[in-house]
Amino acid sequence: MKYLEVVGDSKSEKYESLLNQIRNLINKDENLISSLANVSAALKQTFDDFSWVGFYLFDGTKLFLGPFQGKVACTVIEIGKGVCGSSALKLETLVVSDVHKFEGHIACDSGSNSEIVIPMFNLDGLLGVLDIDSYKFGCFDETDQLYLEKIVRFLVEELF
Ligand code: SME
Repeated sequence: MKYLEVVGDSKSEKYESLLNQIRNLINKDENLISSLANVSAALKQTFDDFSWVGFYLFDGTKLFLGPFQGKVACTVIEIGKGVCGSSALKLETLVVSDVHKFEGHIACDSGSNSEIVIPMFNLDGLLGVLDIDSYKFGCFDETDQLYLEKIVRFLVEELF
């Protein structure tokens, strides 16, 4: 049985603890979808301010909804559309402190106010994105970006 026990008071301490546990939880021999499902659960259960955590995966043409934790979400996102599609197109992390000011933002939950999207890619190109929403404005900062990029880098190396 796998269980998660994240320790730490500050955000960076929690991420350090979470990163170590994700490294133990995830390994090459396990199924991609199962592994991503557990990572989305681990992130959601660690941070109370995260309202939605999930992966959109690239099928060669568009992003489709992958493993996630949270409310029902849109199933397909075109490359270049919304925060997810923009991050996928630029292959850059996007930190959006107020989604209502992001032109073309795709609202899956009207309560969502801020968002971070981290692209997943390797030498073969785009693989997908990790998308996290919050009901709080300005929920995500450089600490989130730093650690979420580390988590994504690990997942890309281990699972794809
Ligand atoms: N807000 C995203 C769409 C996905 S949901 O947040 C789960 C976007 O603008 O791409």
